[in-house]
Amino acid sequence: MSDADSPAPMLSPDREDGTIEDFTRIEDLADHVDETVTLKGWLHNQRGSGGIKFLILRDGSGFVQCVVPQDAVDADSWAVADDVRQEAALEITGSVSADERAPGGYELQVDAVERIGESGDYPVTPKEHGIDFLMEHRHLWLRSESQWAVMRIRNRIETAIHEFFQERGFLQTDAPILTGNAVEGTSTLFDLDYFDDENAYLTQSGQLHGEAMAMAYGKVYTFGPTFRAEKSATRRHLTEFWMIEPEMAFYDLEMNAQLAEDFVAHIVQAVLEDCEEELEALDRDTSALEQVETPFPRISYDEAVELLRSDETAEMIDERIEALNEEKAELLEEKEENQTRRGQAKKHVKRKIDAREIEINKRVDEIEEALRNLPDWKESAQTFEWGEDFGGDDETVLTWHFDRPVIVHRFPAEIKAFYMKRDPDDDRLAMGIDVLAPEGYGEIIGGGERATDLDFLKEQIEAHDLPEEVFDWYLDLRKFGSVPHSGFGLGLERTVSWITGRDHVRETIPFPRTIARLHP
Ligand code: 4AD
Ligand code: MG
Repeated sequence: MSDADSPAPMLSPDREDGTIEDFTRIEDLADHVDETVTLKGWLHNQRGSGGIKFLILRDGSGFVQCVVPQDAVDADSWAVADDVRQEAALEITGSVSADERAPGGYELQVDAVERIGESGDYPVTPKEHGIDFLMEHRHLWLRSESQWAVMRIRNRIETAIHEFFQERGFLQTDAPILTGNAVEGTSTLFDLDYFDDENAYLTQSGQLHGEAMAMAYGKVYTFGPTFRAEKSATRRHLTEFWMIEPEMAFYDLEMNAQLAEDFVAHIVQAVLEDCEEELEALDRDTSALEQVETPFPRISYDEAVELLRSDETAEMIDERIEALNEEKAELLEEKEENQTRRGQAKKHVKRKIDAREIEINKRVDEIEEALRNLPDWKESAQTFEWGEDFGGDDETVLTWHFDRPVIVHRFPAEIKAFYMKRDPDDDRLAMGIDVLAPEGYGEIIGGGERATDLDFLKEQIEAHDLPEEVFDWYLDLRKFGSVPHSGFGLGLERTVSWITGRDHVRETIPFPRTIARLHP
């Protein structure tokens, strides 16, 4: 093509200040007080009557109230503002004012409103929806304020993870997703039918490849998706989740534990510092998060078993049952009083009472579920036998004894993976560590010191019924400069779930995959 034929460039190449956008983002409004700006977003909510409309606009970066008095805008703008539906896309121009009482601290006094995209009967309304309905509409539910807050915090956690490792000289290395070997046992492998005559799986953990990369580069971490064909549906299990796995040459178990506690403390600190608005949107009580300081308490598996079986645990559970019964009685009393008041109340008070009733019902449901569970949990704790693996409920009970994350170490080798180093002082024990998050959340990190001895590993591979040929490459790591080394894996969704105070991991990943869910 000759020069004469070439089309005019689409955009001017001489941008003044490097900006791409011709609109302002809500999170930047603080820099534009008393200026006129244009926002682009979607209608989150609205109220108003007669000659004034209050439109809550969201743009992904935040939420802002836009005040539209009929007499301050032209007829077209008013027509849009007066007849706008939830989730319609809008362009709004107006001047920014700081207002302490406004959500987010700023408000827009509107000059003009334009509709970019219509909306219909939007299914996810501000009223209470059941979880199945919300999960079916996950692609839309993501727009809600609570899910916005969760995803913003998830993002902050992801950036905090990279900061932490990059500042400490770790190399980010990526492990393969398609693998020919199991890592965490064969029971949760996802089979693939693609490679001729070869078993292939989606990875359960990047650890084994991480070990190879640690021998190559010293300190590494992987950050990738992992897959477990979990047969059970619990609030802690996804079939596809993201795991962050550091692996360090020349680290023993205690160094590994120190890295893990520094890591968790760093993540929590980052969220507390930078996600105040999001935590508030989630009503997250942050007092427990503020306790997360190193060092974390450490207890051995033996001590954890003793603690579970102790009278102290039994009493603690009884006290919880009593406290929950009291709370329930108080809530029901409040609900009854509200019902009586509702009769003569003004409209806006009625609305408040109705909103509070939704809250009360939700909390009462939670309490009733806990009251159904607690007797079983007590039974499980009191009858726990040495050698069993902790169930989610046992972990929950354990964490109630501590005001910050707790590190459990040295587990029965039988319940741990083939690659774990044995305790030199007690051959029945594997040098593993788990970090349990407080407030009942349980295991967020699993890891340990790796076995270095070639013959021991060969024995273990056989004892775990694993095919030795596919581990040839892994065993090479023990033939050429084998050194003590350790690592761990942090489950991203469990961590987000704890920090955001969500009771189920399905809300902590944009599109969760569980045994019962592949859509949307
Ligand atoms: O304890 P896990 O199974 O450890 C490993 O996979 C090791 N290979 C990690 C290592 O040492 N490099 O898993 C690690 C973490 C758990 O503590 C948990 O947070 C998370 O991964 N996790 C899950 N999260 C959501 N859904 C599941 N089904 C999970 N399984 C494990
Ligand atoms: Mg584990």
